[in-house]
Amino acid sequence: MAGYVVEFGKDGGKIEPDGRLDAAAYHRNHQAIRAVLRGFLAGQPGDVVEAGSGTGQHVVDFACDFPEITWWPSDLNEQHLKSIAAWRAHAGLSNIRAPLAIDLSDPSWCAEMRDGSGPGALLAVFCANVIHIAPWRVAEGLFAGAGRYLRPDGRLLLYGPFKRDGRHTAVSNAVFDSSLRENNPDWGVRDIADLERLADNFGLALRETVEMPANNLILMFERSKPA
Ligand SMILES: C[S@@+](CC[C@H](N)C(=O)[O-])C[C@H]1O[C@@H](n2cnc3c(N)ncnc32)[C@H](O)[C@@H]1O
Repeated sequence: MAGYVVEFGKDGGKIEPDGRLDAAAYHRNHQAIRAVLRGFLAGQPGDVVEAGSGTGQHVVDFACDFPEITWWPSDLNEQHLKSIAAWRAHAGLSNIRAPLAIDLSDPSWCAEMRDGSGPGALLAVFCANVIHIAPWRVAEGLFAGAGRYLRPDGRLLLYGPFKRDGRHTAVSNAVFDSSLRENNPDWGVRDIADLERLADNFGLALRETVEMPANNLILMFERSKPA
């Protein structure tokens, strides 16, 4: 596992004996995220990969609300993979697949994406609160994989704090960015313009920006040209 990956999801409720972690942030943000995803995904059958699922709580929430979608959670951290598997077992939903061990810094993500045992061409990739808590190469691998695995009408949906034209959108995000960079100089809140340039390398373009509570955004990328 990459040395920079830190364990997440012990700040909510108690850790369950089966390994289910609980992230405080999930309780604050899941309803708002689900409401926006509903606009982009509801009623469309297909496979969706959640990149960097963390505890696995979001994927259970989405799978309840979007039963026509097959959800493929993923992460790199072993404790998170265990937590995702435990949340999946606890939920007992048939539209959540076993978590994939995806290292987003690898542009091909994982063997299952290529050998037929994973999802087909993707309706969407959803990724929340990952690319600022990871080196830039993780954003590169995320976009590379999205460019490779999304179906022609597929979407990459990113949730988190972002800068606009080099500026933070709130003082709280600037403070958060400083604390991230103190922890690891390769981390940091990403600028939307840098992400648009990155997307362009992989045939993707930013189509929508949705304002979210607590100075977060959802960025929606689609293919800029036919795959
Ligand atoms: C702050 S947590 C967010 C978790 C979840 N998306 C959420 O919003 O609750 C960041 C997650 O990114 C994962 N991560 C970090 N680097 C990664 C990488 N290279 N590949 C895949 N996941 C990674 C971490 O293991 C962690 O689960």
